[in-house]
Amino acid sequence: MKFDKPIALAADHGGYELKEAIKAHLNELGIAYTDFGTDSTASVDYPDYAAKGCKAVQDGSCALVILCCGTGVGMSMCANKMQGIRACCCSDTFSAEFTRRHNNANALCLGGRV
Ligand code: RB5
Repeated sequence: MKFDKPIALAADHGGYELKEAIKAHLNELGIAYTDFGTDSTASVDYPDYAAKGCKAVQDGSCALVILCCGTGVGMSMCANKMQGIRACCCSDTFSAEFTRRHNNANALCLGGRV
């Protein structure tokens, strides 16, 4: 899959390690991304990071956003309040693929603890 813009990544402390694993995977695939933090497992507020990642989609600098928190649920609640963001919290690959294909989702929310 090719994108004309980077993928935005953002996470709170509960999703930090998953975000880092996703970065490694994207590096292997040669897919560009922009990392909006967080940068460690130190506790932060997930709505701040949902906003950072989603704003990059809203302003057109990133194609899509992947948001990681403990469950993915908090990130999806925050993301879906933002204009133009269609977020889905997914814990299986079928849902992740089809929310992109059938719902035109532009935000994938994943749980680092599930
Ligand atoms: C943080 O401890 C945790 O509550 C958060 O990552 C997330 O799971 C919220 O939905």
